[in-house]
Amino acid sequence: MMIEWKKSYPGVWNGTVGTPELTLTGVSGKRPSDRLNQLPETACPEHKIQFDTMGKYTVLRMELDHEERVFGGGLLFKQVITENQVYHLRVDHYAGVDSGRTHAPVPFVVTSNGIGIFCNTPEQVDLYIRTAHRKEDKAKICEHDRAGDKDWSCYNAPYYIEIAVASPNVEFILFSGENLKDCVARFNLYCGGGFIPPKWGLGLWHRTNMTMDENDVQSVVEEYKKHHFPLSVIGLEPGWQSGSYPCTYDWSARFPNAERMIRNFLKDGVRVNLWENPCISEKSSVYEKLYPYSGSHLQWCGIVPDYNIPEVRNILKEHHRKSHFSIGVSGYKLDESDGYDKWLCPDHAEFPSGINGFVFRNLCGLLFQRITFEIYRENNQRTYGLTRSTNGGSVGFPYIIYNDRYDFKEFVTGLCSCGFTGTLWCPEVRGAQTAQEWVRRFQLLAISPMLLLNAWANDATPWMFPEVENTIREIVQLRESLQPYFYTAFAKYHFEGIPPYRSLFMDYGMFLAENRQHSGDLDDTANPYQEVQSSDIKDQFMFGDCLMAAPLEPGENSRKVIFPPGKWFDFHTGKQIVENGGVIELTCDDLSPMPLFAPDGAVIPVKENGALHVRKFGNLPGKFMLYDDDGETFDYESGKYSWKEIEA
Ligand code: GAL
Repeated sequence: MMIEWKKSYPGVWNGTVGTPELTLTGVSGKRPSDRLNQLPETACPEHKIQFDTMGKYTVLRMELDHEERVFGGGLLFKQVITENQVYHLRVDHYAGVDSGRTHAPVPFVVTSNGIGIFCNTPEQVDLYIRTAHRKEDKAKICEHDRAGDKDWSCYNAPYYIEIAVASPNVEFILFSGENLKDCVARFNLYCGGGFIPPKWGLGLWHRTNMTMDENDVQSVVEEYKKHHFPLSVIGLEPGWQSGSYPCTYDWSARFPNAERMIRNFLKDGVRVNLWENPCISEKSSVYEKLYPYSGSHLQWCGIVPDYNIPEVRNILKEHHRKSHFSIGVSGYKLDESDGYDKWLCPDHAEFPSGINGFVFRNLCGLLFQRITFEIYRENNQRTYGLTRSTNGGSVGFPYIIYNDRYDFKEFVTGLCSCGFTGTLWCPEVRGAQTAQEWVRRFQLLAISPMLLLNAWANDATPWMFPEVENTIREIVQLRESLQPYFYTAFAKYHFEGIPPYRSLFMDYGMFLAENRQHSGDLDDTANPYQEVQSSDIKDQFMFGDCLMAAPLEPGENSRKVIFPPGKWFDFHTGKQIVENGGVIELTCDDLSPMPLFAPDGAVIPVKENGALHVRKFGNLPGKFMLYDDDGETFDYESGKYSWKEIEA
């Protein structure tokens, strides 16, 4: 099958099969950023791509070079490089295996050669990465005898990626960048460009126990003041509503003076964020209006309105505007739009707009973000919140993904992988077995997109291990001092499409993963097919332009750190760590600060005692473009912002 690639922007081509009605970017309501037009032209890699119809699938096939690596395919928690994998993408709560069932199964893949493919569809997408060969390739494949030939391998050249979409109607978007990072940036800009959070959103968040009433919540805020922790947002969990699971979205009698409480908090600079999920109770004041627009099946005993219908979005916006926004609520946590299968409606469920349960699930988080975001957008006020699911096209929605798991390693890998798909990940803190674990988790959190203590099921506080209360306070101060640096990273996300959190591969290329062997060691149980993977880097990442984090796990006092070429310096002490890249074994004490490193020439703005200071590392000349704006409106969209050059 031939399809015509039509250039829409420099380095971006659209190719359509059939007549797709629903696209992810259409559903998100975002338009590509005009900035795309300022980027250099690149060559279209269309000659590498072939299309076929196979049964119910539209299949895109692209040949990969031997050294070409593939990234993306959704938010991953076990790996960054995705080679020799199969992903059946669908929104789900991640269950411990990178199978494609994840909170953000974004159907975008990008290769180390700077080629990106986005399947702009909410339908089922399957990715076969270096695992699919066709009969017609036979002549190019060299068979080896496993018993007698050392060159036998379970994965054979030539290598392909095959992407199968279970629909005859699909829009594919092809991106070609000068490198991996440039290609990801073009994808982000195509989806509208990243969001800039309100400045308050980068402060300290606390979510309260779900059983708390107004007085309890006020006491929590008071306690923060007493302990001199600068609270920025207080999150109310399900119990703020008159009913939850299913939800009413109406205030509970536990909060008789919600408006007064919120206004008083605001005087102290504390915002209120509300938890919701998509399942609506018959006790809700919007139930009757939404009933005719809801799907065939219940979730958590509640109806599920079809967000794909504009009228539904309007009803919900109206309610949220009146009951929450108008009394000062700053945003939402949108929960359980993923859920394991058993909590959600079945795939065959029917929704009034004609979509089924499968498609609804793939769109639910995306549309839930759109509804709530638009309330704030229409009032020229920024919001910041959480969502447990999203999809392609959501890069401009100010929502961070979280989940119910608590594996430190997975949390770090989430930060390494999220940047490939226009999403951001929050390694929220909920509890700890030891003071050292509490410190290590806070250290990671403090350099993440959201500094969130989620005490929804307990009464955790930053000071719950008194012996490390000061250490935790210092960690929160570090976050505050880096605020101008973080804020600038988000501005680059918006204006240039550069993700604020990035894998080292994005900044430094693939040489770090180049030790390809033919075959791995045979083990009849652990590795019966002698598989071998590229060496991945999934426990250290870049954030902003020039900081690299190498978090230490709870319980660990040493770890291996990989340094790209050049001199690198300890961010905290300024001490030089390596002369020209390499791998070192780093040892730390229980309460040592989070290992953070800056390259030669790095210029990093830091706020200390209300003044802006600059830290300069090494001897190479360097500069930093510092972004600023009013911090809470969308006026930056009409040019009200500044970039200041800091040279050192
Ligand atoms: C979970 C969510 C938690 C908390 C809880 C409240 O699904 O992940 O963070 O909000 O619901 O019931």
